[in-house]
Amino acid sequence: MKRVYKIKGGNPLKGTVHISGAKNATVALIPAAILAKEGVVTICDLPDISDVESLLILLNELNVKTELRGRDLIIDTSGMVNTALEHNAVTKLRASYYFMGALLGKYRDVKIRMSGGCDLGPRPIDLHEKGFEALGATVEYDRGFYHIYAKDLKGADIYLDIASVGATINIMMAAVYAKGRTVIDNAAKEPEIVDVAIMLNKMGAQIRGAGTSTITIDGVESLGGCLHEIIPDRIEAGTFVIIAAAAGEDVLVDNIIPQHIEALTSKLKEMNADLEIGPDWVRVKKSAELKAVDIQTQTYPGFATDLQQPITPLLTQANGTSQIKETIYAQRFNHCPELQRMGADITVHNPYCTINGPTPLYGDEVSATDLRCGASLVVAGLIAEGITTISNIEYIERGYDSLDEKLRALGASIWLEETE
Ligand code: EPU
Repeated sequence: MKRVYKIKGGNPLKGTVHISGAKNATVALIPAAILAKEGVVTICDLPDISDVESLLILLNELNVKTELRGRDLIIDTSGMVNTALEHNAVTKLRASYYFMGALLGKYRDVKIRMSGGCDLGPRPIDLHEKGFEALGATVEYDRGFYHIYAKDLKGADIYLDIASVGATINIMMAAVYAKGRTVIDNAAKEPEIVDVAIMLNKMGAQIRGAGTSTITIDGVESLGGCLHEIIPDRIEAGTFVIIAAAAGEDVLVDNIIPQHIEALTSKLKEMNADLEIGPDWVRVKKSAELKAVDIQTQTYPGFATDLQQPITPLLTQANGTSQIKETIYAQRFNHCPELQRMGADITVHNPYCTINGPTPLYGDEVSATDLRCGASLVVAGLIAEGITTISNIEYIERGYDSLDEKLRALGASIWLEETE
């Protein structure tokens, strides 16, 4: 049975959408919670996404007890056993690699399959490995399996050649129990890193500087439980702001931290979109005519690569030629052939893509090749004339909490269909 989204484009969207807890924070907070040696960790405002389901399977493999009370996840590590993570769930998402740092930190030994995740071109983890090795670990890799172990972990000065989100979080987790001080230089500054550091500090860690390019971790003996509320998802927020700019009459995107999407809202203002920014919301009204802009993706606080794909269909509606330069994943343009099929005038020449607008979009059968490609096709479907059928929606469900329901509540005509 194949599940697809069907979208009948053209409905003017109105109302309020409530943004869920951040996927990319959640998928790190769950592995971080297993660093507790006593007490329980409660993570609040858990998004309902399939990446979380995969991580709960892995917690179960480790004999960690979990309980879901509404949107609160309670994690009890009292019976935890350090088993090899061979389950298929490891390959369902990228973030399963956070168990490397967490298990290495807690047990000095981790056996885990290679993680999976969206195909955005090459995604090496050499910087994670380099960080673990600097702390004193040996990293062995054989046919899809990692074995990382250490007799002792000792604090070290680690310079990241690229400000990698994953490497920064993984090294931070491995270092919380290392002896002495670890300093990560050229650390990534994404809000999700700050969220993980805040939770680890509530558990008893000594991490300073998260959110800047130098993070200092002083090793401690033991971490305990805590209660932590996940930050709102800036990429889901950004996606809805883009959707509202593309198809909105009057939409309030609520429960967000507007500062986290400033690069996006500034670009949209440059495009002439009608935006009002409040303390924890952004209101988007229908704007007269959108202007073409150039975008360059960057690490935070620059324009997020995860919003590059969703904004592309909006640029097809702007007057003039827009150019996107993708500096994080040079090949992250799998959405472009699908948008072309719907009528977009796009040329891809990695790491650039050029969009001539405005062009009408027409409903067609398209396929989500990765999570944010899926979001991009949903934006396109909401603009397009006629019916768009999006297959491979499992990608979308990995990272967007009830996207179809939230859109229906705004008046969109989107429904799920099961076909042979
Ligand atoms: N890189 C290396 N070596 C490494 C690690 C990264 O060369 O050891 C390179 C990557 O290939 C890439 C760049 O450095 O070119 C940045 O990668 P980073 O490590 O920062 O990305 P990530 O941690 O794998 C997270 C998000 C991605 C998001 C990127 C960039 C999670 C689970 N994933 O990935 O989110 O695109 O940061 O902001 O947090 C998504 O949500 O759709 C998504 C793909």
